[in-house]
Amino acid sequence: MQGQALPGFRDFYPEELALRNHIFTTWRDVARRYGFQEYDGPPLEPLELYTDKSGEEIVQQLYTFQDKGEREVALRPEMTPTLARMVGARAQALKKPIRWFSIPQLFRYERQQRGRLREHFQLNMDVIGEAGPAADAEIMAAVIDIARACGLTSTDVRLRVSDRRILVNELKDRHAVADGEMLGVLSALDKWGDEPALTERRLQRALGDSPERRGSVTAFLGLLAKEDSATVERLLGAPAAEPLRECRTRLDAMGLGDFVTVDFRIVRGLAYYTGIVFELFDAQRSLRAICGGGRYDTLIQEIAGVDLPCVGFGMGDVVLGELLKERGKHAEAPSRVDAFLIAVGAEDVAPVLKLAHELRDRGVAVEYALRDAPIRKQLELAVARGAPRAVIVGPDERKAKVAVVRDLKSGRQRKVALTQVRKGVFK
Ligand code: HAM
Repeated sequence: MQGQALPGFRDFYPEELALRNHIFTTWRDVARRYGFQEYDGPPLEPLELYTDKSGEEIVQQLYTFQDKGEREVALRPEMTPTLARMVGARAQALKKPIRWFSIPQLFRYERQQRGRLREHFQLNMDVIGEAGPAADAEIMAAVIDIARACGLTSTDVRLRVSDRRILVNELKDRHAVADGEMLGVLSALDKWGDEPALTERRLQRALGDSPERRGSVTAFLGLLAKEDSATVERLLGAPAAEPLRECRTRLDAMGLGDFVTVDFRIVRGLAYYTGIVFELFDAQRSLRAICGGGRYDTLIQEIAGVDLPCVGFGMGDVVLGELLKERGKHAEAPSRVDAFLIAVGAEDVAPVLKLAHELRDRGVAVEYALRDAPIRKQLELAVARGAPRAVIVGPDERKAKVAVVRDLKSGRQRKVALTQVRKGVFK
């Protein structure tokens, strides 16, 4: 025995793959309804695509090695830098705004915990080339509509939204955080709540030996955590909050306002976000984020030298899958076959093979026993396969040009003309 899959990597047995396929189908369906086109990129990328742009946390989690051509490479931990490169390379030719989606498998060497693995699949939907809040609202609406398409309501999930521009102004104006310190402070805020000790360490590093400023930032965080209404109202009233207000108005107009809460604690861990940021959580917040995204207006400039504003999100299959299982909203593995064909005796095998082939050519899913067995055994296998019916062919039936069609749930059976059965009509 070669043991197990690596820690944090999954074997997808058919039942688990059924859930993954159900999630992929829902993702693709909503992306299609929103007019997004699918793209993909390579799973292995040059290391430097991530080292400057993604932020410290993701870089620490990279699967990286030197390839045989002595290039430093990394398995993709996220899709956004690849997207930025691809769009940047054809920026002139592509009609803006670009609406693209992808479902890459991503790799991060994370500390294993509930909802966090070392590989996951992630739907990415991004709008590129539109700076206004209508694009942000469209992207957020897609997140909510995926939740809805999965059968989740506003009592199950909540989209928590904020805007880094509001927070950055506040930190600059009221807490004397300098531009060069900002990213460090934001990455500290991102861990606040989940990992207080890490927040403390990051604040310490970002603000150095300035206990007053650390104290003032921490006190501000305390107010946000309490959802202090005066603070929230003040921040929401700021001129920098105009895009956020506009997004809310638009989401209200779409009838999705119930899903949305303004939460200034959301900052996102990745370095490249420049504006609106959001995360989707289960309403109890018992699981990690189902999805995260926001506006990143400078990434394509930094990667490809083209000025194109972007907004988008990534939604993983792991937390969403857990939530769907918890709520009983996951799809059962679909029945594999429409009919199980049964040959009564050895001389019935060839006619059954012929019939199986005719049905398969018509798109009907059929199976039959791969070795001679008594009818009882064949019926047992048919039931185990979840087949809705067995089609039994014996010498008498062949003479009468019929087959016996047995409903495997009720046990009722009837004779059906072979001409009908061949067409996939079983009654
Ligand atoms: P992210 O927040 O790193 O964003 O990941 C987005 C989502 O992917 C998370 O909310 C979570 O559901 C899932 N996810 C991330 N890491 C793991 C993991 N180790 N195991 C399981 N699920 C995970 C990004 O990656 C951005 N590039 C998204 C984006 C696209 N922003 C703009 N466009």
